[in-house]
Amino acid sequence: MPIETLFPLAIYYEDLADAPKHQQKLLSAVLQLERDGAERRNYPEMAWTGDLHGVEQIHTNPDFGWIVEQIERHTAIYLLELGVDLSKVDLYIQRAWPIVSRTEQEIGSHCHNTAHISAVYYIKVPADGTYDPGRLVFFDDARVNEVSPGLGSENTDIVAEDSYFNQLQAAYVPVEGRLLLFPAKQRHAVTMNETEDLRVSLSFDIVLTATGSASGAYEFLTPPPQQWQKFKSSHSASIERI
Ligand SMILES: [Fe+2]
Repeated sequence: MPIETLFPLAIYYEDLADAPKHQQKLLSAVLQLERDGAERRNYPEMAWTGDLHGVEQIHTNPDFGWIVEQIERHTAIYLLELGVDLSKVDLYIQRAWPIVSRTEQEIGSHCHNTAHISAVYYIKVPADGTYDPGRLVFFDDARVNEVSPGLGSENTDIVAEDSYFNQLQAAYVPVEGRLLLFPAKQRHAVTMNETEDLRVSLSFDIVLTATGSASGAYEFLTPPPQQWQKFKSSHSASIERI
């Protein structure tokens, strides 16, 4: 009784060859940015994320030049594998920030709604054989096999046996020196770092736009930002309420 499986989610990964050579410099740079960042504004049980603390443009920081090169190279390969004609798109890093997760810290579920591709690079993963350093969990919001909506929810308790066909989430174990790329709209979270050590990673948001010559593609692809025109005056100055 064969069962076909269709529509796989494509998660790209590569273990970067030069990772050990760059680890210390990246780690020092991240910890310095954390020290220099804005006053902590999230809950203590949540990992420190640069985007909430004024550290969201590390792609423009020369200390991160090597990893930015890797992001550009591997994003292109990922898109080629997805069948994208790279001559018709321009690629941008829109935001990039570090994440430092200490003992018993985690990151709640979210999507990167302003981007198209998200990347994670693991600078440091605690090598504790006993305790979990925290996993990247992807959630299947499409639920293609949930034949009656809600069947798999915690409250119904009707799905009697967990299997490959009814799993609603998949946990990805982090690997030091590994780069991961996935669709930015894919909802995900990071589970608790149960070790006594730091887990340090970088997050990148990447955007696709049409190239200037790819006219006709704009219905589904953002036109090049160079063609946009910002409003000449601010909303508050130009609009008088009646
Ligand atoms: Fe994320």
